[in-house]
Amino acid sequence: MKRVVILGATGSIGTSTADVIRRHPDKFVAHALVGHRNVEKMMGLVRLLRPEIVVMTDLEAAKMLSDRLAGHVPVLAGMDAAIEVSGSSHAEIIVAAMVGAAGLPATMAAVRAGKRVALANKECLVTAGRLFMHEADRCGAEVVPVDSEHAAVHQALQGQPRASVAKIILTASGGPFRTRDPDSLRDVTPEQAVAHPNWSMGAKISVDSATMMNKALELIEARWLFDARPDQLDAIIHPESIVHALVSFVDGSVLAQMAMPDMRMPIAYALQSTPRLASGIEELDLPSLSRLHFEPVDPRRFPAMRLVRHVLSGEDSLAIAFNAANEEANAAFRNMKIGFTDIVRIVEQVLAMTEGCNVQDFEAVWSLDAEARQRARELCGG
Ligand SMILES: NC(=O)c1ccc[n+]([C@@H]2O[C@H](COP(=O)([O-])OP(=O)(O)OC[C@H]3O[C@@H](n4cnc5c(N)ncnc54)[C@H](OP(=O)(O)O)[C@@H]3O)[C@@H](O)[C@H]2O)c1
Repeated sequence: MKRVVILGATGSIGTSTADVIRRHPDKFVAHALVGHRNVEKMMGLVRLLRPEIVVMTDLEAAKMLSDRLAGHVPVLAGMDAAIEVSGSSHAEIIVAAMVGAAGLPATMAAVRAGKRVALANKECLVTAGRLFMHEADRCGAEVVPVDSEHAAVHQALQGQPRASVAKIILTASGGPFRTRDPDSLRDVTPEQAVAHPNWSMGAKISVDSATMMNKALELIEARWLFDARPDQLDAIIHPESIVHALVSFVDGSVLAQMAMPDMRMPIAYALQSTPRLASGIEELDLPSLSRLHFEPVDPRRFPAMRLVRHVLSGEDSLAIAFNAANEEANAAFRNMKIGFTDIVRIVEQVLAMTEGCNVQDFEAVWSLDAEARQRARELCGG
């Protein structure tokens, strides 16, 4: 029986993880569930999974939850408590599914404690990929991606030396605005941007999918996860979201991974890769799908994909600024402070103000992150 901690339990990935765990009571037990503010959702998860500990990183939410649970389950408060349960000797698997760079400290605690880390929080690798993977190596942590594209690549690479790999190609659905006139994108609303055609996800990543910043962040994530050179990384539009990624090898063979678009598959794989676990997703019915389409990414419609090329071949500070500015601009758009097309424009402006340098420690990551956020906030109108 493996004891699991879910960071970001109250989110979309957290909820799907709870569903997979619930299907395998003989294999997994919830050691700790970590949420931020959503007390109602956490109450439901506590009833479903009966965890040994609950953490709310928001202090007020922790107090409310503690009152509601009335001593039935211990409730801890604050990010320090999340860091503590994440590195605790009582847990074997940590599902890292907080959103944004805020998830980095608790995920690092799991890495440093040498856990199996089911990594959904791509912002961890985007902001601190070099340090993160170095620490994982040093501490014997096993990092298994939850992002469906990276889980697909992970599966395709099994048993293959890196020298055999020619290219890693991530697929992108193109989001809700794939066919919309680019000149009309200025006026789209947050409601339209979060309405993803294939995936049901949290608000931030849904907007990232609409701008294609999500795919840009995923290319950076892939660079660190698979130790790939920028010229080995590519993205292609695949509106059906059935093929999640492709790996081409030096002999011309291409391996693609397919599954219905449901995050429970990569989550089950990240919890236990061998033998595979039933995940509860719908079976793939190829005749009913009939056709799969692939098309190149149009950089005019998705300028984020042009920007990421510069970031991929540049120093660490560029990726940190890219992520931080995007988090701020994405939130400002959802709060109706800026327009949709301003998101990538602001990220580009912050990038232009960022000096290229590599980082040696996490203090440097946080300082560059704060600097870029400040610049982005100013550009978003304060
Ligand atoms: N959803 C997907 O299909 C998908 C696919 C691939 C990768 N991912 C990645 O997985 C991560 C989570 O995505 P999601 O869609 O599950 O997001 P989500 O639904 O918005 O959930 C985010 C989770 O993070 C918590 N959280 C928010 N702000 C926080 C903070 N400042 N400190 C600590 N915790 C905080 C939330 O807590 P409360 O709700 O309690 O406030 C919630 O549990 C993201 O990095 C995303 O890129 C998601």
